[in-house]
Amino acid sequence: MKNVKVENVKVKNGFQIIKYKELDSTSIRVRELAEEGAPEKTVVVADSQTNGRGRKGRSFFSPEGAGLYMSMLLRPGLAFQDTLSITTMTAVAVAKAIERLVPDGELVDIKWVNDLFIHGKKICGILTETGQKFTDGVPDYVIVGIGINVGGLDFPEELAEIATSLEKEWGFLPSKEELLNLILEEFEKLYVKLPDVTYMEAYRKRSMVIGKNIRVLSGDTSYEARAVGIDDRAGLIIETANGREILQSGEITIRVQKS
Ligand code: BTN
Repeated sequence: MKNVKVENVKVKNGFQIIKYKELDSTSIRVRELAEEGAPEKTVVVADSQTNGRGRKGRSFFSPEGAGLYMSMLLRPGLAFQDTLSITTMTAVAVAKAIERLVPDGELVDIKWVNDLFIHGKKICGILTETGQKFTDGVPDYVIVGIGINVGGLDFPEELAEIATSLEKEWGFLPSKEELLNLILEEFEKLYVKLPDVTYMEAYRKRSMVIGKNIRVLSGDTSYEARAVGIDDRAGLIIETANGREILQSGEITIRVQKS
């Protein structure tokens, strides 16, 4: 069954959730809806994706039963360079939502900029995209795509070393429905006060990068550095042999060294 809408629900925080059995990508569907004029807080969820997309043109493993695949349409009226704040804020919201499902108060780790990790392996990826029409530098909409490995299936060999699922780490399969509701709840709490950047404190608290030696990969070059902090614009403050600098996300990738 392709692109079959199975449910259409309204939830209390004003999110309109549209569920599908299978889509190419929830973010592609949200883009179509955005172009048709769908309102802010339209949320598309799919049981599986045939073309789940990750950052830097990578694909995102999205088989049926293994994950929560969702995309949100936002119209925040923020300049393009400020949309990064939505990504970092989302990382915090999703971390807090996941943490509400674990009984022992364990925190989810955030790897700069927006990957969520548990016990050293990736549990969630976030992909933020914008519409193509800009007015005074402001895109007409923003799409936030979230993919969480909930569990239920084994990863293919190439992912097993680097990715994990909530089920694998916790020994039980959490409810995707509950997780979705918690994410929307936590998201809403932070989104209403987005300009205050108060979420950055929670972000720094969960950072698995601050205080670590890292390798910075930028284009064809790479170098060693020590991550010493993250500023309120989510810039990574590093120290290298040449002094202190602040990295902005974009094309830069970091590897956290075991030390
Ligand atoms: C990454 O880690 O590179 C980002 C992965 C984002 C995956 C989610 S799954 C829901 C939404 N639809 C997509 O096609 N991608 C995002």
